[in-house]
Amino acid sequence: MNTIHALPLLAAVVAVFAGPSLAAENKDEMKAATKAGMRSEAVTPHFKPTGKPASAARGEAIFMDHCALCHGIHGKGDGPRSAFFVPGGQYIPDMTVAQVLAGRDKELIENIREGLHRLPEPSYVMPQFKYILSDEEIRSALAYVKTFSAQATKKSAAKH
Ligand code: HEC
Repeated sequence: MNTIHALPLLAAVVAVFAGPSLAAENKDEMKAATKAGMRSEAVTPHFKPTGKPASAARGEAIFMDHCALCHGIHGKGDGPRSAFFVPGGQYIPDMTVAQVLAGRDKELIENIREGLHRLPEPSYVMPQFKYILSDEEIRSALAYVKTFSAQATKKSAAKH
């Protein structure tokens, strides 16, 4: 066997021996990272802040991506996912009713950030978005959600 042919073979042998020990090292690192994550109280957001001002216009796209699945594209609570809620037991708000959201911005932002599983049943479905959306994106989504009642009024006015 000449040297040129022996080289790939040598590399393969090195890889076979180095492989398992590298994997073991990675596993330890991963375990440590997981434990650290569980212990730490401070949350590290998994997104980059956009640095843009909150706006209902930007919120529309965010709502379609992350919220319409449950809340429905017009916020009536009739998204495809809502078909799987326990009939009679699970509630989802009709956000076209202005009173549902009026004057509660601070609380609503907190509820979108943290989710509602922390409240007693049946308020446990609304997921938390603090690891998914930036503060600006949450505010934009809420700004958009708050346009639903005006949109619904316009539609019903057009019908009459
Ligand atoms: C998995 C389904 C689901 C998704 C996705 C979802 N929601 Fe909800 N949301 C709910 C349900 C169900 C409720 C009613 C409370 C409960 O049961 O948790 C709710 C409640 C709310 C409320 C009312 C909270 C209150 O205090 O009255 C707001 C506002 C809201 N959601 C906004 C959003 C926004 C904005 C998004 C997207 C960023 C979103 N939701 C994504 C299911 C969902």
